[in-house]
Amino acid sequence: MQGLFISFEGIDGAGKSTHVEGLAQALREQGRTVTQTREPGGTPLAEKLRALVLNEPMDAMTEALLVFAARRDHLQQLIEPALARGDVVLCDRFTDATFAYQGGGRGFDLDILRVLEGWVQALPGGTALRQPDLTLWFDLDPAIAAARLAGARVPDKFEAQPVEFFRRVAAGYAQRMAQAPARFARIDAAQDRDGVWTDVLAAVRARKMLA
Ligand code: TYD
Repeated sequence: MQGLFISFEGIDGAGKSTHVEGLAQALREQGRTVTQTREPGGTPLAEKLRALVLNEPMDAMTEALLVFAARRDHLQQLIEPALARGDVVLCDRFTDATFAYQGGGRGFDLDILRVLEGWVQALPGGTALRQPDLTLWFDLDPAIAAARLAGARVPDKFEAQPVEFFRRVAAGYAQRMAQAPARFARIDAAQDRDGVWTDVLAAVRARKMLA
């Protein structure tokens, strides 16, 4: 079987995580081996970097460098070997989150992010970059997401941001989708859970990634 790389994106509170679980189960039922992971994180080193990024105040460039350092380790230690084995890799967030959060949310230089993306995701022997085969973008109005998150748990550094921050993050996602429309499926995350799941299945089936 051929390796397959699917990422899940969206602002905090968009509700993507339960669908990562659901899709993993559906794929396993059809005989696929699934590697389920997340960013920042996914390896012991990258999880340490995650704790720093989510909890320590830092300037936007430091943050961008740390998420890409975590991503490099994650790609080398976990994602590339899994794809080489023929696994399906389901990743809760990937580089689009960096463009959306550090680029859109924090206003960090997109050209620098593109340089870092080019270094970190370069595939051996060419100019091609490792990118997800499919990105499921759970798109939700930031005001609704904020209402869903309110009181749910102790917010981390990003979850504590005001709704205007998440409007910029959402705009960052929209911009990334406009630049690679074939890679993205936009899911209307304002629907109830069953409606969202129906759309997730349809997007994956339309690409023949699930029967
Ligand atoms: P999230 O994926 O929402 O995990 P949880 O469900 O455990 O809260 O949290 C990750 C946070 O990290 C989220 O607020 C987005 C942020 N983030 C970035 O700022 N840049 C990145 O490159 C990535 C991958 C995540």
